[in-house]
Amino acid sequence: MKKIIITGVTGQDGSHMVDYLLKNTDHKIHGSVRRLSVKNHENILHLEGNPRFELINMDLNDAHSIRDVILDIKPDYFINFAAQSFVAGSWDYPIQTWDTDADAVLHIMESIRRFAPECRFYNAGSSEEFGDVVCVPQDENHPLRPQSPYGAAKCAARHIVRVYRESYNLYAVQGWLFNHEGTRRGLDFVTRKISHSIAKIKIALEDGKDIPILQLGNLDAKRDWSDAEDFMSGVWIMLNQDKPKNYVLGSGEMHTVREFLTKTLEFAEIDFYSEGQDDNEKFYTKKGKLFFEVSPKYYRPAEVHKLCGDCSLAEKELGWVRKVDFFGLVSKMYHNDYSLLSK
Ligand code: GDD
Repeated sequence: MKKIIITGVTGQDGSHMVDYLLKNTDHKIHGSVRRLSVKNHENILHLEGNPRFELINMDLNDAHSIRDVILDIKPDYFINFAAQSFVAGSWDYPIQTWDTDADAVLHIMESIRRFAPECRFYNAGSSEEFGDVVCVPQDENHPLRPQSPYGAAKCAARHIVRVYRESYNLYAVQGWLFNHEGTRRGLDFVTRKISHSIAKIKIALEDGKDIPILQLGNLDAKRDWSDAEDFMSGVWIMLNQDKPKNYVLGSGEMHTVREFLTKTLEFAEIDFYSEGQDDNEKFYTKKGKLFFEVSPKYYRPAEVHKLCGDCSLAEKELGWVRKVDFFGLVSKMYHNDYSLLSK
């Protein structure tokens, strides 16, 4: 039985990866978590008692902790999904972002090189590495032009992974994953913030209660959104090629934040009209109740305006396919939040 370490298992991607591997392989999975006084295990509650899944303690900000775990388990695969993944937060805590998203990758690579050189390593890369893009869509040859401390840290990690791969002949890759969302997404990311808030607003309207007001920042940013579950097979195939190589995973479609919002309102069957522009834009129900407004407090010091992934290489060389499109994703997220909140 092969051994896989997955970091970030309490998060969206880590928990989906565990589900994917339990279903599609016979391997043993060691899911690493940082010991916290408050448990945040909602995404992995269903794994409790599964004999092929074991929780282990590891703190990516502690090189000794990484070394001890790799020495002890001697994994066949190491999938690093743990990160400070909130781009907006990376301006508030750039050093913690750098420690977790760049330095920790160096520590993992060092420990793999010394103690488990046969281990295959995947690091979560990001379309934020392309940042201030020079063309649309972006493929594997697009230059790295990050716009945030988060994007810069992911670029540094990419170089570390490449240097270790080339210097020590390790199987180490970092995919460029465009935005991927779903029902386990954190509430601060724009898609889940929208699906969750609109579901709350819908329920308040149905119950005749006070309507909570949703506030968002830049409605014109364009993103390439896919279903996170669809990306897991892509990551796993990337880890199991004859030779290590990095690939873009995305949908090749761009939608604005505004489209995500209005599509969600359509699924919620909330009719509305809008007033004002830019910082003053507001949405009202047909009965004149305010339920949405733009708030500059959610603008970022620097924005990435147009992310769109060209994943043709992954489709051709990895045989990777997506199942869920943009409308399927919006529908799934809204209806999931509506049923969660109406319980
Ligand atoms: N979070 C958030 N909250 N974003 C908002 C809001 C808001 O209230 N209003 C507008 N936005 C805009 C942001 O300015 C950004 O342009 C877009 O919505 C998406 O923001 P996020 O959902 O926070 O995601 P992200 O694109 O910054 O980063 C995500 O995708 C990356 C891959 O491209 C994260 O998952 C990263 O970890 C990942 O690497």
